[in-house]
Amino acid sequence: MAKGADQAQEIARGAAAIRKAYPGAFPKTALILGSGLGAFADKLQNAADISYGDIPGFPVPGVAGHAGRLRIGTVGQTALACLQGRFHAYEGHAPAALALPIRILKALGAERLILTNAAGGLSHEFPAGTLMIVEDHINFSGQNPLIGPNDDSIGPRFFDMTDAYDAGLRAGLQAAADKSGVAVKTGVYIYCLGPNFETQAEVRMLAGLGADAVGMSTVPECLAAVHCGMKVAALSLITNLGAGLAPGALSHDETLSEASKAYAQVERLLVTFFAALEG
Ligand code: HPA
Repeated sequence: MAKGADQAQEIARGAAAIRKAYPGAFPKTALILGSGLGAFADKLQNAADISYGDIPGFPVPGVAGHAGRLRIGTVGQTALACLQGRFHAYEGHAPAALALPIRILKALGAERLILTNAAGGLSHEFPAGTLMIVEDHINFSGQNPLIGPNDDSIGPRFFDMTDAYDAGLRAGLQAAADKSGVAVKTGVYIYCLGPNFETQAEVRMLAGLGADAVGMSTVPECLAAVHCGMKVAALSLITNLGAGLAPGALSHDETLSEASKAYAQVERLLVTFFAALEG
């Protein structure tokens, strides 16, 4: 576990590698693409790619549907730093390793983090194909990327999560959905470690806890980003109903194929959302 000073060094090392590969002004907005949504990176114009392998501190993701590169480019007038491929705790990364890429983006000048993910719906209100603006989350993993020594120059030891998902960015997503004619819901995302999909009993429990969708990502990144003072928004694409809510077994192939069916909607919404962002 890196001590405070080591964390600052790790952040500086990663940031320096990116600055060297991309000396231009760093975007104020970072985007992480979830399972099956990686194609959004193709929308970026004037794009420069940096492979994760060339950035100290960036682990290499190992999931089908997740590439492993940072792409910097523009959507309309808006500059974006897009993480095409994400890191999951179930791959075996230490919790703190999930915070480091976010902190590196912040050190480079990113002020906002937009997270996307594929998730399972926990009721028939959230069937496959639903897009959900995350209004809040439940960390049901028992893990936290901020466990360990705290570097106060990065963020406070005890930090507030009252408005973890920034109200302005959420309103921006809703406005973009309305403008682009894409239906969205709002709901609570609950984070389970995975890698298994939940049991039927777990799905009933998670719904009872007040969640609308369950997934294996997003929460560690949100925690790291809020801790270091970034504004966060998240969009879930529901790719299936939770186990037991519909006949049949769950699979990652289904996640990817449902994500690709809904992809055009996600793209329309995000392009409209980013066009309205300043900077
Ligand atoms: N559970 C957890 N993660 C998921 C699911 C699910 O049902 N679908 C897509 N990601």
